[in-house]
Amino acid sequence: MGKIRLDKFLADAGLGTRTQVKAMIRQGQIAVNGQPASRPEMKVDTDADRVTAGGEAVSRAEYVYYMFNKPAGCLCEAKNGRSRTVFDYFEESGRRRLFTVGRLDKDTEGLLLVTDDGPLGHHLTSPRRHVSKTYYAELDGPVGEEEVRLFAGGLDIGDAKPALPAVLEPLDAAQAAGARCCPADTGFHEAGARQAVLITVQEGRYHEVKRLCQAVGRTVIYLKRVSEGSLQLDDSLPPGAYRPLTAQELEDIYKDM
Ligand code: URA
Repeated sequence: MGKIRLDKFLADAGLGTRTQVKAMIRQGQIAVNGQPASRPEMKVDTDADRVTAGGEAVSRAEYVYYMFNKPAGCLCEAKNGRSRTVFDYFEESGRRRLFTVGRLDKDTEGLLLVTDDGPLGHHLTSPRRHVSKTYYAELDGPVGEEEVRLFAGGLDIGDAKPALPAVLEPLDAAQAAGARCCPADTGFHEAGARQAVLITVQEGRYHEVKRLCQAVGRTVIYLKRVSEGSLQLDDSLPPGAYRPLTAQELEDIYKDM
């Protein structure tokens, strides 16, 4: 690969974003050929230099894996210069062939796995696999036992086949307020008529959650994905931020496969 900037090398190795690896360099965690490195812009020879982080050797990772907290208003599409996309948030965009594992609607927030690991992405989005996905949603009115039963039975949402059974869990105001996924800025507490729910689906059909709710006469006002398989949205990630998956999170994803 030749000579590249130290911060780029570390970010490409999957140690963190450019900002995060610069902080690691400033904190003295990085050494090049045994000497502490202090300048993010220093050039390293990726074939000859030995780079360590906290004493552990760093090599260019084959793939990178990021947890992204998607904000509303951006598309899960390739950068196009016209509308804002997920990849406008990624410094690595362009240096690696990043893609989102599955898609969220423009107005949906929350958990998105972003990677350049094609085989993994392919595997996780295969229609044959039923990776469960949980969403926190706010609806335009109440739902109760009847709707819970209808969701569990597999609703007709206008496709050739009914949806697979889904779990609808109405939350009372206290549960919604206490839920780690409850957004502070949706006006939920002021808008008494809204109903907060958790919805878990096993498929990834187009607009699936919105269409399930429509099938029981409700409209989704706010939608946020909070988990996918074993992966849980990290509370400390503000909308628009991302971080590398931890080794444990990645191991758990592989375990589920
Ligand atoms: N279901 C939807 O309706 N929209 C999403 O973005 C995700 C699931």
